[in-house]
Amino acid sequence: MTIEEKLAATASALVTTGKGILAIDETSPTCTKRFAEFGIESTADSRRSYRETLITAPGIGDYVSGVIMFDETIRQTAKDGRSFVDVLNTLGVMPGIKVDTGLAALAKAPGENVTDGLDGLRERLYEYCEIGARFTKWRAVIKIGPGTPSRYCIETNAHALGRYAALAQEAGLTPIVEPEVLMDGDHDVGRCLEVTEEVLQSVFRELNSQRCLLEGIVLKANMVTSGIGSPRRANTGEIAELTLKTLRRCVPAIVPGVAFLSGGQTGKEACRNLNAMNSLGRLPWELTFSFGRALQYPSLGVWGGEPHNVPAAQAAFLHRLRMGGAARAGMYSSELERG
Ligand code: 13P
Repeated sequence: MTIEEKLAATASALVTTGKGILAIDETSPTCTKRFAEFGIESTADSRRSYRETLITAPGIGDYVSGVIMFDETIRQTAKDGRSFVDVLNTLGVMPGIKVDTGLAALAKAPGENVTDGLDGLRERLYEYCEIGARFTKWRAVIKIGPGTPSRYCIETNAHALGRYAALAQEAGLTPIVEPEVLMDGDHDVGRCLEVTEEVLQSVFRELNSQRCLLEGIVLKANMVTSGIGSPRRANTGEIAELTLKTLRRCVPAIVPGVAFLSGGQTGKEACRNLNAMNSLGRLPWELTFSFGRALQYPSLGVWGGEPHNVPAAQAAFLHRLRMGGAARAGMYSSELERG
């Protein structure tokens, strides 16, 4: 198999029918914040136990194609001594790794950020290959505000995504390319559409000019929604229609799939919206989920850091996975949600 064939095969497998991608790649500080919401102490071992609870939930292989981990997590082991990478491989689930190092203030653009992590990336990618990663993720963050995002911010982030994706492909790792337009703000859905479109156009220009193989990536995108503080929130039908319109305008058909982040939507909202898109007929790409919070809540609260809650937390997690799987097939409904 050539490296191009391998990149494309991994991308297709990540968005394979019926399955989505689990994001448990919160950095330790973000994980600590999420744990604090439920009064859970955050230590390397409590984070390890929590991630083990999720990845060993019986049956996750039926719904999950790949798991995105953080540097700490991909090096951790289950209670039985097997590395998380081995646990996932045994289940037929691909191990993946977040390789950006987070946000830095963008010079000369007050309030705007650029994602860091290109320094030393080539070497880190080779190390992650040795650990057993099959794919990678890099998240750019674009915030809508008065007068922002600037074109400078969009283009700088898109350029970094292109550099990351090319380096990941050089190492034989399929890149998940994630330009997230945040839901924070009081903008309406039309503004989100405008910004998402500008961002995606810029990202694909960079991917093309930096020689990335488009059949060997997965796009991780936000849905086109109104801002959380918007006086009029777009409904499911509008979100589905406008998201698809944006994707059709910007995402070449050769990209095998788009995996949505949840971005602060509840599990039910995210599933309803994904389901609506998958009910609208034939699309050029697979549309699936790569949720973090929308899959992990409420199982995080059910777990609460207590070993005796593991089975109940796993059941709550599996329910969310089943709902994601249904939404991915256009079969999600409120009856199914109620069980
Ligand atoms: P959320 O689904 O919680 O937005 O997280 C997905 C993710 O991986 C963001 O990078």
